[in-house]
Amino acid sequence: MEKALHMKRIELGVCYYPEHWPEELWEDDFKRMKDLGFSIIRMAEFAWTIFEPEEGRFSFDFFDSAINLAHQHGLKVVLGTPTATPPAWLTHRYPEVLNVSQAGTAYQHGMRRHYNYNSPVYRELSARITRKMAEHYKDHPAVIGWQIDNELNCEINVFYSEADHRAFRTWLQQKYGSLEQLNQAWGAVFWNQTYTDWEQVHLTRPTVSDSPNPHQALDEKRFISDSAISFAALQAEILRETAPNQWVTTNGLFGHLDSHEMTNELLDFFAYDSYPNFSSIYPDKGDKPLLDRKWSWNLSAVRSISPTFAVFEQQSGPGGWVNRMEQPAPKPGQMRLWTYQSIAHGADMVLYFRWRTANIGTEIYWHGINDYHNQPNRRVEEARKIGNELNSIGEKIAESRYQAQAAIVRDYDNEWDGELDHWHGPLAQESTMAWVKAFQYQHIPADALYIRKDMKAEELLKYKLLVYPHAAILTQETADLLSEYVQKGGKLILGARTGYKNEHGHCNMAPFPGPVSELCGISVEDFTRVGPYEEAPEIVLEWSEERRVRADHFNEALKVESPKAEILAVYENSYLAGKPALVKNPYGEGFAYYYGGAFNLQLAEELLKEAGLSKPVDWVKVPEKVELAVRKHQNGSTFVFLLNFDHSPQEIEVEKEAKDLLTGTIVSGSVTMNPFDVLILE
Ligand code: GLA
Repeated sequence: MEKALHMKRIELGVCYYPEHWPEELWEDDFKRMKDLGFSIIRMAEFAWTIFEPEEGRFSFDFFDSAINLAHQHGLKVVLGTPTATPPAWLTHRYPEVLNVSQAGTAYQHGMRRHYNYNSPVYRELSARITRKMAEHYKDHPAVIGWQIDNELNCEINVFYSEADHRAFRTWLQQKYGSLEQLNQAWGAVFWNQTYTDWEQVHLTRPTVSDSPNPHQALDEKRFISDSAISFAALQAEILRETAPNQWVTTNGLFGHLDSHEMTNELLDFFAYDSYPNFSSIYPDKGDKPLLDRKWSWNLSAVRSISPTFAVFEQQSGPGGWVNRMEQPAPKPGQMRLWTYQSIAHGADMVLYFRWRTANIGTEIYWHGINDYHNQPNRRVEEARKIGNELNSIGEKIAESRYQAQAAIVRDYDNEWDGELDHWHGPLAQESTMAWVKAFQYQHIPADALYIRKDMKAEELLKYKLLVYPHAAILTQETADLLSEYVQKGGKLILGARTGYKNEHGHCNMAPFPGPVSELCGISVEDFTRVGPYEEAPEIVLEWSEERRVRADHFNEALKVESPKAEILAVYENSYLAGKPALVKNPYGEGFAYYYGGAFNLQLAEELLKEAGLSKPVDWVKVPEKVELAVRKHQNGSTFVFLLNFDHSPQEIEVEKEAKDLLTGTIVSGSVTMNPFDVLILE
């Protein structure tokens, strides 16, 4: 079943922490929220000690007052289960609940996420607080839904407590059945790692050169994901059973967690926390950085989980902790731009983080809409503007769906294996960003498509073009799926290192690209990394005027195996000169392209032309700095979002008459978009 958020109108709201403020402020806060057009607040995700001040004694008075007052002011409430921050009494009495570093040091009380998913006592106490809260609020007229924990796997996504080592053994026993099978899957004969007793088996531990067994490291990530999901499942089951009329979700998109599986199995829809201003401290690399526009790609990944979704934390101010993340303030207009960025990509509920900047604790520099002084400021006014706008257009746009004819394909196994394996992981990052930029700058909206077990070719055939940059681990099942997609008319672009590993991460003893060799009509004859001090060779493109492209990072010399295959580019220099680098193979009704390198922006843009993909909206001319996104209703009504991510004005040309939804005016001809401005054309 599709995991979408179903809203009648796009709702705005804010994260609110009544426990951070004197009670006298609440009423004025709630009034002003309503006044800004907010309708939903999210609370309680870190407040365990208030609900359970000592083990087994529960108290709801504090949050009852806050929630009842919010209700009186017409606000709806999303409640977080408070398990991201275990109480001091709990970690003191049961230190075994603490998460432990790989080297064996326990993470102590004082921050958050200092617990592990597998401690039996933590699971029991988490289940109990969840049940108590659900029983208490299941019929509250203001409470619409639940957020499980907060950002599972954020801050830290590795776990090495005793309980984790033990649970890993059980997980491996279920997966492999015997030590012989485990030894085989982990290639344990290499360097004498063979296990003769289950007690010898652990999650990775500190090793010389920090080089653990790669097959074990891959299983570790799968195990962490399963552990997080099973911890969430414990709560989801209680919430479903106790509060069946309220929805259940969680917020995130973090490492070592299969958020697709979690959502499919447990949640009603997925929620994301969007902080585009991280780009000011961690900009994307390579040509023409996307900066905050890169969050559009993150939102595409979220959309691949939930076609319409919620943003539970939308950046509204400068971000910063006392000791890290020194971000500048969003410029005037950027908060609004980022809000519409989320909406353009499918968010039908957007809650800002946070109502007022905390004046205590680690996050005193993670600014909210209101400043400490609580006086009017420009962010409050910007929120008011957005509130007014959504008040008039929110109903129209809600439930419409983002439109894409192309997708970048991903999967968790390669993502996790590629974290350790430098021979394909970094290539995937380079190539993915190159393709994201190519789609962005060419104004071709694109999705993220995650390969799942038992996926049907129909799900792929929604797209004219799929790019699966470096599927090092490629099972026969996935290869068959991709072949069927191309057979039935799809266009597929693959890059170097495809298909050389099996699901354990062993290298296949067969010519690359293994199970898709026939589909691509080639084999890999020779290959090399471009060494750190070497000059990358160039390739010469057959079809393009921009004929020369640098083949960075990795070079495979291809051998054409199919008589129908066409060589589209050869190496110009290096010892590979003259060898095919890019081959197009007709297969059934479609085409497979194989490139023996990592993609850069230039090549990705040229390949889009060769594959014949053009932008879906031909009646607006949009400069590169402006993102184009399209949401469409089943009944056909279509909204073209134009988002100016630049600090300077941008000129667009509207070649017919279109309604500018935000102002209600008809526009045509040339239109100037101010810095960070948004246009929604109907
Ligand atoms: C995360 C958390 C919030 C807050 C913000 C800002 O997204 O969910 O509780 O900590 O980051 O740091």
